[in-house]
Parts: sequence; structure tokens; C-alpha cells
Amino acid sequence: MLSTDPCILVIFGASGDLTSRKLIPAMYEMHVLGQLHPSTVILGVSRTAKTDDAWRDELRPWIEKQVKGFDGAKWDEFARRIFYHAGDAVKAECYPALESRLVGLHAQHQTRGNLLFFMSVAESLYEPIVEQIDAAGLVVEGKRWCSIDPEARSWQRIIVEKPFGHDAASAASLNRTLGRAFEEESIYRIDHYLGKELVQSLLVLRFANSIFEPLWNWQYIDHVQITAAETVSVGQRTAFYDQTGAIRDMIQSHLFQVLAFVAMEPPSLYTPENVRAEKIKIIDTISVPTADEVADHCALGQFAAGPGEGAYHELAGVAPGSTTETYAALKVHFDNWRWAGTPFYIRSGKKMAAKRTEVVVQFKPPAANLFRKVGGFGNEAPNRLVIEIAPRERVDLRFEVKVPGFGLRAANVNMELDYADHFKAEPVEAYGPLIVDAMRGDQTLFKHRIEVEGAWNAVMPFLDARSAKARESIHANYACGSWGPASADALLARDGRAWRNEV
Ligand code: BG6
Repeated sequence: MLSTDPCILVIFGASGDLTSRKLIPAMYEMHVLGQLHPSTVILGVSRTAKTDDAWRDELRPWIEKQVKGFDGAKWDEFARRIFYHAGDAVKAECYPALESRLVGLHAQHQTRGNLLFFMSVAESLYEPIVEQIDAAGLVVEGKRWCSIDPEARSWQRIIVEKPFGHDAASAASLNRTLGRAFEEESIYRIDHYLGKELVQSLLVLRFANSIFEPLWNWQYIDHVQITAAETVSVGQRTAFYDQTGAIRDMIQSHLFQVLAFVAMEPPSLYTPENVRAEKIKIIDTISVPTADEVADHCALGQFAAGPGEGAYHELAGVAPGSTTETYAALKVHFDNWRWAGTPFYIRSGKKMAAKRTEVVVQFKPPAANLFRKVGGFGNEAPNRLVIEIAPRERVDLRFEVKVPGFGLRAANVNMELDYADHFKAEPVEAYGPLIVDAMRGDQTLFKHRIEVEGAWNAVMPFLDARSAKARESIHANYACGSWGPASADALLARDGRAWRNEV
């Protein structure tokens, strides 16, 4: 186990869905795996008054539900790390009592003044809470924070959940507010996709092997597809979703992280600074379409009515006539040497045919076909590397071989590595390892301010008035359980390509 400092993980938004569904189960898993310092504790902060025990009782069923192999004895140990504090974190009055609670916990658990704040609240509350944390003097990085251990040098860090703003301007404003209270090295902009095994594995696959990287460019790769298809609808989040849509909710955030790992240049060394610098560079290289090009570079959709649910634009909570996309496919190019002319197609949607998150790297056909006059040939398929991130974790390479027996016939075969079969390890909730990284002070898998603002700049043409044409006839333009609107197929068909829709 890599060592972490002891700290208090202060979760603002303790009563929220993210906390119970993801954060606490993730911390339980990290406890079971021995990844938390023995003194580390969790303090949930929310407005409703309740005792520590009442909060623990609320959380237990979530862990039983979310974590495979729940162990009652381990839960009892873990529950001793959990505390609750009632308070309205946007109000200054909350802070004197919160500070005394923190001082008390530091004293009781020797957490050395180290604080890791987690913003698990609505985006509109980020800036007011950060301002209050700052005004209350809770951030005194590197200084003596409390009298418990006068020699200890404490740290205070903050994890901010997406969305990081709504557009480039609001992201810059959030970054400025965060920057007034915390140093950039103490700000952890989390994206749970970077906690996914197969997303991290992309860098290892590319840079720890010699067989992929020489081919990883415009000369050998025809195009790349990045898909995050979901079968679920927007659930109870219609009001939020209608302000957000698939581009903000999935593409600008999660899928651009995947895109960056697929497309970036090799860092000279695997360090947080180097990896983040390469991500900033590649996002900055995305070619932003002109207003005239937008409609030809995207396909947007809204799901139609299906069993048990109306069409998106008819749902309660959705604005009348809303043109918010529940499906988006973007065609992205990079203005750099490596990827000159190679399109990256990125798509994500709700209520689609299958839950699948994957990267498809489609290679070009061989330069010459020496078997062109041989009878048993003609059905060759270009080499294709599929990196499936979810629901299975696997890497799959397709190539041609000779069919055994007399004569010469070719067949496409797949060589597959299934992580669960091979490594016999159950995947853990992606938030866990990321929060532990923040406790350790490792920013490699977190986003830098400049990267976030760059990602907004790249998607703005698909979100603002320039996308109006692509939003015409968006209502109910794809069936539930399908692979998206016809316009998404047309987007690739215009380039002589097709989506990989195999399940
Ligand atoms: C969240 C989005 O960030 O990611 C959700 O807000 C989406 O709309 C979810 O369902 C998808 O995450 P995953 O890990 O299931 O692919």
C-alpha cells in the first residue's frame, strides 16, 4: 500500500445522492483494501440535524447495495471513522461550530490539521462555500492550523466535482474563486472517468509497449470512436439535465478525458506535471469548427417515448420546446502533426441500445493487398483495437489469419484480454482510488484549470447559437433502445464509415 497522510475528509452535501451512492461506498472499499490511513476520518456536513449514529444507519444500506461482498465486521470498523455535522455551509454562522468540530476530531484522531474538502453539492453552491471556507480561515496550508500539534505542518485540499462551470466564462469564474482560497496544487478537479481502470490503462497500453505507439498516428489509424452509451433515462434529474445535456454532462467532461489519453503525446516521465501538461496541450489542439461547419460536425438527438416513459421533450421538468440533447455525436479533429486528417468521433446518449463505454481504434487497411487475386479473400476487415471500459473491462484486437486446411482462405479473429478473467480482481468504485490520490497529494489524474477552460472552448460551438441548425427537428428523433438518431449514422456515412454497434 502507498502511504497517505491522516486527514479529515469533509464532505459538503452529506445528504446528497452522490455521497450515499458513490462516495461512502468508495471510502468503505478503500478502508477494506487498507488504503486509508488508520487515523483518517470522514465528516459529513449537511443542513438536516442528525446524530453520527443516525447518519451511519442511513449509509449502511447503501454500502450493502453498492459493494459486492459486504462484510458486517468491516462495516463496524469503518463506521467508527464516520461523523456528521449539521450546518448550512453557505452561511458564515456555520463555521465557528464546524471549526470546533474539526479541532475536536483532529485532537481525537491525530489528523494533524489536514483537511480534504469534497464538494458534493449543487454547482451553484461551489463558489459560496469556497468563499466561506476561505473567510473562516480554514485554509492555512503549510502553517500551524491548530494548537493540538504545534509542530505539525498541515495541508488543506479541495476536491471539486463536475460540472466545472457551464461554459468557458463560468468555469473561469469558478477557477478564480477556487484560486483565491487554494493554491492550484491543492485543487483537485475530479472526473470519475479517470478513476476507471481501463481509462488509466490506455496510457500503459500506449506507452509501456513498443507495438502500438509507432502506429498511433494519421499514417496507420483511419479513425477513432469513443462511445459512452447508457440505457438509463435522466431519472429524477430532469431540471438539472435540461440545463446540461449530453455534451456538457458526458462529452466535455468525461469523454474528453478519454480523448486526451488516446490522443496526447507521450510525457517524458509519468509525473502529475508532465501528464497534465500533455493533456492541456492536446485539448488545446482540438480544431474548433466554424459556424458553417458545426452542423456537419455533429448529430444531436432527443429520445422518443418508450415503454413507461414519454419522449424527453414531454417529461415533467423539461422546458416546453426544449432542444437540450440527450444524445450527441461530435466529429473532432486535432490541428497537429500526429493526427492530421484523422477524425475522432465521440458519442454519448441516454436510453440507447446498451450500456457501453469504449474506445475503438480503427486502423487503415494494409498498403497493398497481395491476396487480391486469391479466391478465399475479399472479406478482410481492417485491424481494430477495442478498449472496453464498461460494463466489461477488456481489450480486444482484431486481425486476419489463415483458416486451417488446404487452400488459402482468410478469417477475421479477435484476441481478447478480459480483465476480470485474467486478473481475478473485482473493479472498485472509481471515486475511491481518486480520493486516496488526493489524500496522498497526487494530482496526476485530476484536471488542471487550463485544461477545463480549453475543453469548454472546444465544445462551445456545439452548445451556443452556432448549433441551432443541428437542433432543428431534434424532438424524439431517436427511438428508445436504439443507437441514436439517423443523423449520427449519416455523420459517419458521409465519411464512408460506420459506428461499431456490436453488443
Ligand atoms: C455522470 C453523469 O457524471 O456520469 C450521468 O452526470 C451519467 O448522467 C454518469 O449517467 C455515467 O457514469 P458511468 O460511470 O456510469 O459511465
